[in-house]
Amino acid sequence: MLRMEKPQDVVAPPADAVPAATPVEAPRIAPDTVGDVTARDAVICVRGANVHYGDKHALINVSLDVARNEVIALIGPSGCGKSTFLRCLNRMNDTIESARVTGDFRLDGQDMYARDTDVVMLRARVGMVFQKPNPFPKSIYENVAYGARIHGLAANRAELDDIVYGSLERAGLIDEVKDRLDDPGTGLSGGQQQRLCIARTIAVNPEVILMDEPCSALDPIATARIEDLIDELSEKYAIAIVTHSMQQAARVSSRTAYFHLGRIIEVGPTDKIFTNPSHKLTEDYVTGRFG
Ligand SMILES: Nc1ncnc2c1ncn2[C@@H]1O[C@H](COP(=O)(O)OP(=O)(O)OP(=O)(O)O)[C@@H](O)[C@H]1O
Ligand SMILES: [Mg+2]
Repeated sequence: MLRMEKPQDVVAPPADAVPAATPVEAPRIAPDTVGDVTARDAVICVRGANVHYGDKHALINVSLDVARNEVIALIGPSGCGKSTFLRCLNRMNDTIESARVTGDFRLDGQDMYARDTDVVMLRARVGMVFQKPNPFPKSIYENVAYGARIHGLAANRAELDDIVYGSLERAGLIDEVKDRLDDPGTGLSGGQQQRLCIARTIAVNPEVILMDEPCSALDPIATARIEDLIDELSEKYAIAIVTHSMQQAARVSSRTAYFHLGRIIEVGPTDKIFTNPSHKLTEDYVTGRFG
């Protein structure tokens, strides 16, 4: 059951102390985190996020911005809350019965967890690519057309064709599939399936793409292809990527957040996190002494 509460560390002033029209600002700092969790031109702003699975406190007072056109890497040892955090950003934790999410989550300033939020629309604006490619058991064409169709983005077949071809093009897959669009998506190679899932995600015009270890099931060549794609996509989208590969984080991201036991310990420019981290725990992890 999902229940929304105020962020734990926001103390609302007495009602008569604030004029009715004055918004109550969420705190701009995260005392648990070293480095600046804010970003200029943020598309996503999270303040004081906590997630419990039953008694398990899996995400503890996490605050972080994701900026437009940036690639931010989320790294840290297994079980530290990276996927939990990512899933908060498009309400995928709603699907987990035991998950209880609190905190302030904003997309373009709008409360993602507001009562009247259309979750299907939210997940179009904040798309997700998973560790294991998961094409629908449908044709390549239908995999990409599906979201555009349910969101009414095409008035006719010609417009739908444009969306499908354009998305496959931007996902770097069109040359490999243009003669077999009616073949099942599941018949593609793993790397091609992952690019198909990316095409499906971008077909509905997202603002943010969440990627949870998108290359961990892929060989080095398919991985390089996805990494090139991430670079190209960042011209248009904000991307948050979870990865266990420090080389990958260094290659694709400009900012990195280091998670440890449910908290963000440190966030900063990727080169600083890898070469000159401020926190001992970050240093232990990036130098391979931990995790
Ligand atoms: N559905 C769930 N029910 C109960 N506990 C969960 C659930 N999902 C995650 N957890 C717990 O929450 C904590 C954070 O898990 P999460 O999957 O976010 O970690 P992670 O950093 O993504 O790890 P990994 O690198 O292994 O994918 C872990 O202790 C995990 O066991
Ligand atoms: Mg995970």
